Amino acid sequence: VFDHIEFDEHEHVAFCHDKKTGLKAIIAVHNSYLGPALGGCRMWPYANSDEALNDVLRLSKGMTYKAAMANLNQGGGKAVILGDPRVHKSADMMRAMGRFVESLSGQYISAEDSGMSVADLQIMAEETTHISGTKASYHFAGEEADGNPAPSTAYGVFTGVKASVKYHFGSDLQGKKVAIQGLGHVGYRLAEHLHREGAELFVADIYPEGVNRAKEKLNATIVSPDEILTLDVDVIAPCAMGATVNRQSISTLKAKVIAGAANNQLASEDLGELLKDKGILYAPDYVINAGGIIDIYHQKMLSSNEALKTHLEKIGATLMEVYTRADEQNLATNRVANTIAEEKFKK
Ligand code: NAI
Repeated sequence: VFDHIEFDEHEHVAFCHDKKTGLKAIIAVHNSYLGPALGGCRMWPYANSDEALNDVLRLSKGMTYKAAMANLNQGGGKAVILGDPRVHKSADMMRAMGRFVESLSGQYISAEDSGMSVADLQIMAEETTHISGTKASYHFAGEEADGNPAPSTAYGVFTGVKASVKYHFGSDLQGKKVAIQGLGHVGYRLAEHLHREGAELFVADIYPEGVNRAKEKLNATIVSPDEILTLDVDVIAPCAMGATVNRQSISTLKAKVIAGAANNQLASEDLGELLKDKGILYAPDYVINAGGIIDIYHQKMLSSNEALKTHLEKIGATLMEVYTRADEQNLATNRVANTIAEEKFKK
């Protein structure tokens, strides 16, 4: 079984089938050199077990790199539950999942991901202590403390945009033109931070609520989703879905910095070299968007908002390190980030 799927890089891959509740799940611990493996639990209607296994292997590996670059003493892991969250999920199934997490004795710490809610995690937590992200530990004035790490992600991305602008233009954000693609949980909050620092905003979303609010409250200019990446601005902040940086979008890109929250922004890794050759500074996605996992970590540690905020601000310094090394070695920033992460978790 599965002999066609490579998992030589992983330390531990565990399968669970709980007949009573119908739970079918996989937990993958990719690397625990820096500490217990931290990563969300996703519930998804995978077509088959191979697809689920591939997903959990890929995602858990990504978590090792993200945690290492976020200076966390945590490794990378992930869990997937096979099934449609709207159809198959039950409280008993969540308890069974909690027992599965518990069976790894803390080697894996679970958190929220697609198809799972804070309420689900709270049920899992009845059976295991190895859960985080069941309460928000850090939130800006006026934010609801609901366990969603988006405020931390947005603040981390903001410090990353600031550092990227400083590195590329040698200036602060005052008067800089920033185009944000996607004004959801993270994008809108990022817009608020940037506005406060004097940036001029251009925003696009496929739904009107966020962009209308940004126009009214943040003096942002609304742009169509088709145009947002082609604007003559200083910074593009992808905060919608992945793979928006592709050969086609790069060919019409005028911005000199790409720094945003979306996961898997590059359609392929080799586009890092293309961006470098065009003199476009790319903030590696898993470095700049690590605020979410940093938030989850601090929730687990029960640490103070100040400690969390200081940690989030280190994202800027980490990006500076990546950029400096990329320039010194004439390499793409995404490759350099991978190398620095691998040095940290001793690939
Ligand atoms: P969200 O779902 O709240 O916001 C995404 C927004 O993008 C939505 O408003 C959606 O309408 C919009 N959108 C979708 N397609 C679009 C298009 N073609 N053009 C313009 N807008 C479009 O998601 P959230 O939480 O704000 O996350 C944004 C990105 O950041 C995602 O890629 C997510 O994976 C990533 N991320 C989020 C973290 C978090 O803490 N929420 C942590 C790390 C990464």
